[in-house]
Amino acid sequence: MTVNEIRSKYLAFFQSKGHIILPSAALIPENDPSTLFTGSGMQPMVPFLLGEQHPAGKRLVDSQKCFRSQDIEEVGDNRHTTFFEMLGNWSLGDYFKQEQIPWMFEFLTKELSLDANRLYITFFKGNDQLNIPRDDESAQLWQKSFADLGVEANIVDNAEAEGMRNGRIFSYSENKNWWSRAGVPDNMPVGEPGGPDTEMFWDFGVERELHESSIWKDQPCHVNCDCGRFMEIGNNVFMQYQKTVDGFNALSQKNVDFGGGLERVASAVNGDPDMFLVDAFTSARLALESSTGKKYGADETDTYAFRVILDHIRAATFLIGDGVLPGNKDQGYFVRRLLRRAVRFARKLGVANAIVRSVSEAYIEMYKVAYPNLYEKREVILDAIETEETKFAKTVEQGLREVKKIVDRGNGVTGTDAFNLYQSFGFPLELTTEELQRSHDLKIDADQFAVDFKKHQDLSRAGSEQKFTGGLADHSEKTTKLHTATHLLHQALRTVLGAHVEQKGSNITPERLRFDFSHPAKLTSEQIKTVEDLVNQAIKKDYPVNFELTTVPAAKSAGAIGLFEDTYANVGGQIKVYTVGTNGGEWFSKEVCGGPHVTHTGVLGQFTIQKEEASSSGVRRIKAVVK
Ligand code: ALA
Repeated sequence: MTVNEIRSKYLAFFQSKGHIILPSAALIPENDPSTLFTGSGMQPMVPFLLGEQHPAGKRLVDSQKCFRSQDIEEVGDNRHTTFFEMLGNWSLGDYFKQEQIPWMFEFLTKELSLDANRLYITFFKGNDQLNIPRDDESAQLWQKSFADLGVEANIVDNAEAEGMRNGRIFSYSENKNWWSRAGVPDNMPVGEPGGPDTEMFWDFGVERELHESSIWKDQPCHVNCDCGRFMEIGNNVFMQYQKTVDGFNALSQKNVDFGGGLERVASAVNGDPDMFLVDAFTSARLALESSTGKKYGADETDTYAFRVILDHIRAATFLIGDGVLPGNKDQGYFVRRLLRRAVRFARKLGVANAIVRSVSEAYIEMYKVAYPNLYEKREVILDAIETEETKFAKTVEQGLREVKKIVDRGNGVTGTDAFNLYQSFGFPLELTTEELQRSHDLKIDADQFAVDFKKHQDLSRAGSEQKFTGGLADHSEKTTKLHTATHLLHQALRTVLGAHVEQKGSNITPERLRFDFSHPAKLTSEQIKTVEDLVNQAIKKDYPVNFELTTVPAAKSAGAIGLFEDTYANVGGQIKVYTVGTNGGEWFSKEVCGGPHVTHTGVLGQFTIQKEEASSSGVRRIKAVVK
């Protein structure tokens, strides 16, 4: 079965259970300061899990594009990728465990014909301190599903210490069977939703166990040990709690958030744990084989390089498709890093240049039905990755010359030198190390070298890292205010500058809003002042903020603005329109949007524009705060 078939079967299966199929949201979240990328299917759903009404209803299903930048260095084994698709189905306060578990079982064993004897389950064992009970209900529901197929399913505790002991359903602590965007309960900021989960694992066969040798030697094999025998293929989260200052409250609604890695499910269906053998990678792999003259799987080191290149170029292709170009900051930095790493690993395969295009082309072709935007933006994508490849080739040449100079100095090469090469020329540490060892035949202590390098890097990073982790704590309140302020700003700009003003981008952190809009010229200081005054008047009037569900034509004729083409806010013909003011009475702004927003503008405080600048040609950018 191909990934396209599995994706279609999954969507159709849940559609038959009353779910509306949603398109994937973009990889770059709008108005979510907590993260640079969409890293799970749940990410765009947060407001709705917290109780906002979703325009498409309470039963939703999708296959969401995800990118996990934190996994870049993990790629190379048979199961890690930075980009993947996550199959997801949601109950927003509708059905719960009793439906979800049998449906999942039916989908896996009937629709995909997976052998129930190879399926294993985990569930939450409970935590008295957190006051969250053991999830026996899920364990028993699974047990019943297995029994219906005549498969024995014993429930076993403490498998990590004592082994599986003929069990099929295992309890684990919150380290394994709790899910929130921030991880375990202790790490969750106040306001964040989460809950216990029950996960499904696929058994690739006892012959894959590696417990004789290696790091697993002293522990028993169990589904969560990661030795290679079992692979998690899906996770049912029962999102029913919200973190408070001193524990958890029940959310106003009980939600289901299922997430399953599409390629992992395909690996299980294939019966081979190497995810890179899933058909999604085939044409790209062949392209890479033909440009390198090497065979995937023939040699371990080469295979590692293959996987890095295959993953990274796929991720970069999708990210550029969603509007991120390689650069030095924010999301662009990661696209640059992915492409440069891919090129670096291509060098290991003996090819110095011109590999990225054919691999990226193969993906664009492979995904053209499921993700037509890649095909539409084909030229932009291919152009961006080729330009980056060429730029990096120059960096490498220049860096190699500098390495030679340092070597010729004759004083040895230190981690500090390597860091300076990185700082000044963007020359990666690994290349310096490789180059010294290969061309200059220098015996260096690579570990010490890396430690020195990292010391410098950590110092210079300390500032920028904060940006990547900050924000989540204040998610609900501060960013909601800035989100409403963004609507006021959007309308005020249209009133002052004209109806050609359209949103081109929006990004909110707890500190400020950033709004990009179409306008051909720099704003004068009078214009900025007038916009500020309009927004502040709207705040003073303490307008109520409400939304209604409506259709695109009705919203347009009511004068609503916003991203109508944003398929995410426009599903099944229903869209959500937020009105600042009274619907039918006096209003300031009407805008298509998913929410959330404050209930009254009076809570926003004083609005101030801090910066007005060019963003790109014909697009201006405003940064503003409310205090
Ligand atoms: N949100 C859950 C996950 O990402 C399903 O694993």
